[in-house]
Amino acid sequence: ASTLGAAAAQSGRYFGAAISASHLNDSTYVATWDREFSGVTPENEMKWDATEPSRNSFRFTGADQIVSHAQSKGMKIRGHTLVWHAQLPSWVSGLSASDLRTAMVNHINGVMGHYKGQITYWDVVNEAFADGGSVGALRSSVWTQKLGNGFIEEAFRAARAADPSAKLCYNDYNIDDANANKTRGVYNMVKDFKARGVPIDCVGLQSHFGNPPSNYQSNIAQFAALGVDVNITELDIGGSGSTQADAYRRVTQACMAVSRCTGITVWGITDKYSWRSGDTPLLFDGNFNKKQAYTSVLDALNGG
Ligand code: G3I
Repeated sequence: ASTLGAAAAQSGRYFGAAISASHLNDSTYVATWDREFSGVTPENEMKWDATEPSRNSFRFTGADQIVSHAQSKGMKIRGHTLVWHAQLPSWVSGLSASDLRTAMVNHINGVMGHYKGQITYWDVVNEAFADGGSVGALRSSVWTQKLGNGFIEEAFRAARAADPSAKLCYNDYNIDDANANKTRGVYNMVKDFKARGVPIDCVGLQSHFGNPPSNYQSNIAQFAALGVDVNITELDIGGSGSTQADAYRRVTQACMAVSRCTGITVWGITDKYSWRSGDTPLLFDGNFNKKQAYTSVLDALNGG
């Protein structure tokens, strides 16, 4: 197959891109999205500050634009993200514990309810684990400080009730190395959730790389063995040329080798609009030309 989406579809996978509503007036951007990709994650438009800037007043302008375009093209949509410590409006941090719990569930109901039945995968909780801590340590945030570590489980239970048709994901960065403490913590949580019947359907490996770790594929496999899908959710790899292309190939081949690795999303289309300013981490250059990395990903999706 000659496009990323069509090549991924041969094995039943999707190949998505993060899309920003602020670039939808760039016709080359939209044309490239439509031609190459079979999935989308709104880059910022479904986050709390965008969707509920003041309490119980929901706004879906940018997100609706992306969702309706994606639906018209039959793309899979990943919802991103419901409960995160960042991009939170200031009213949230001022709440008491019981009020915060009510607000969290109300936010999940409001956003998931608006898109009920339309989102394949939801990133329910994003980036809750600490960097460089002991196994299982969570990042200190308004969530842990007021609700304790149980906020993750509470969020997943509320999410299942809000849209039973959506697959519910835990999404994080630096959980790519099979043996890292952060990875072990997430692994133990998923295992525990599965054992106790807490709803969880997938793990998102963000994969903002310099280089994928050598055990990346076995890491994907160890999560899949717990009975969850694995998605590569925010892939971008710094650098250029053949080094970058080789890293992209290894990541794609690792996903292709594990049947429950059901899709890959790159965190943007073109280097021109990447959040990693000063780097060139994506598959299309600033003029929307295909890079070497594009070719290696396409090859790998085609079984090469
Ligand atoms: O919308 C405002 C605009 O009104 C204002 O004029 C402008 C001036 O700074 O800021 C705009 O908001 C920016 C927003 O992106 C939209 O462009 C924010 O400042 C900026 O902080 C925000 O950055 C986003 C970042 O998440 C915020 O945490 C990036 O675009 C987005 O790519 C990035 O995505 C995250 C994932 O959600 C989670 N994983 C890591 C990943 C990369 O950081």
